[in-house]
Amino acid sequence: MAKKLFIKSYGCQMNVYDAARMADVLAPMGYENVDAPDDADLVILNTCHIREKAAEKIYSELGRLRGLRAERMMAGGRAVTIAVGGCVAQAEGDEIIRRAPQVDLVFGPQTYHRLPDMLRGLGAGGARVETDFPVEAKFDHLPPAAAQGPSAFLTVQEGCDKFCAFCVVPYTRGAEFSRPLVAVTAEARLLVEGGAREITLLGQNVNAWHGAEGGLAALLDALAGIDGLERLRYTTSHPRDMDDALIRAHGENPKLMPCLHLPVQSGSDEILARMNRGHTADDYRRIVDRLRRVRPDIALSSDFIVGHPGETEADFEATLALVAETGFAQAYSFKYSPRPGTPAAEMDAQLPEAVKAERLARLQAALGASQLAFNRAFVGRDVKVLLDRRARHPAQLGGRSPHMQAVHVSCGGAERAASLFGRVATVHIAAAHGNSLAGRIAAAAEATGPLRQASA
Ligand code: 5AD
Ligand code: SF4
Repeated sequence: MAKKLFIKSYGCQMNVYDAARMADVLAPMGYENVDAPDDADLVILNTCHIREKAAEKIYSELGRLRGLRAERMMAGGRAVTIAVGGCVAQAEGDEIIRRAPQVDLVFGPQTYHRLPDMLRGLGAGGARVETDFPVEAKFDHLPPAAAQGPSAFLTVQEGCDKFCAFCVVPYTRGAEFSRPLVAVTAEARLLVEGGAREITLLGQNVNAWHGAEGGLAALLDALAGIDGLERLRYTTSHPRDMDDALIRAHGENPKLMPCLHLPVQSGSDEILARMNRGHTADDYRRIVDRLRRVRPDIALSSDFIVGHPGETEADFEATLALVAETGFAQAYSFKYSPRPGTPAAEMDAQLPEAVKAERLARLQAALGASQLAFNRAFVGRDVKVLLDRRARHPAQLGGRSPHMQAVHVSCGGAERAASLFGRVATVHIAAAHGNSLAGRIAAAAEATGPLRQASA
């Protein structure tokens, strides 16, 4: 009988990718994914440690799982194994079991290829905490990737050596590592055979990828040669690694989508220095100018932290000025959250919560206005949308524009919607909101390569 696996992922897209690979690793043991923990045999919380809120969520979820286990025992139901993976697991290790004794297994982001062994070991008194960075490379031990649907993620780079003062990633994901070009292209081909039209290359510092000469631009070139693959994206990038070839690729690679997530964090040179970012606000402006020269319509997105230790009102205003000047199509912004073990957590001039909240509200108002203005410019235009999401209404589908906007699409009938799923279609945009566009099918675009039914 198939065993039921429920994985809940928090945090970044790499965790989403890791969850898919965990399922690949567990499939030979007879595990099949289910959408709810209720009757699962194995529950994995794939956790995020980036901010305190994300980490604390895990303990409330573990409380609910303890309740679930108790209910099942009372009802004489099947046992449930509870595992905590991801970045909280890496950072807190056996502290998790101390705080939540219902947890059977704790494993870090670099050890999940060993999940079958860990699970078999549990009954036999094996280790309950596996957070070493093993000498063998995880990627060499993972089975081939299963299909992910029309839009797929592919990790090409992992870890970080940049040590931004606020950030836990170098400690939870380890040193920077690039997967070799042949491994990446082989996995990309598998994903395309499984129905992927779009691949997003993932890495904590994806543009630092150095798996072949020519860097990420060369990898994007190689991937653009895959028939049936229509769109390429990559995330997340660091301004310091935005090299000439990669900037040029935005003007030259026909499959590379016109958008870039390039976190700047702050518009103040003082704060950027305190953050150990290794670039100034003007360095960032120059990169944006060069990108816009080769690709004038590029949609820029960014991450911001407000209330980093030492941030004055003037520093914060420099961030607002950068936002007003640059015009972001999309952005994430956060209150600074002190993370144990990072240099910024030890800095003086930590700011009161109220100041952080007030600055966040002002920044988000500015970013929201910038985003809405970007979206409004699309009303009345035709855009190509990869229809990769089913909607509640059977005559509708959801998808992404080249610029990464979410688009709600009326397909003019359930049958038409079913036939368009997984394809790129031309959509006439009728309305724009802060976070999405809405429109109707103008004409179904020819899909390149053979169309395979994606099992999403
Ligand atoms: N506090 C708040 N935000 C943070 N980020 C990373 N570390 C912290 C922290 N300690 C944000 C950064 C990063 C994004 C993934 O999360 O903006 O780019
Ligand atoms: Fe969260 Fe960073 Fe880990 Fe992703 S890599 S799960 S964002 S802590």
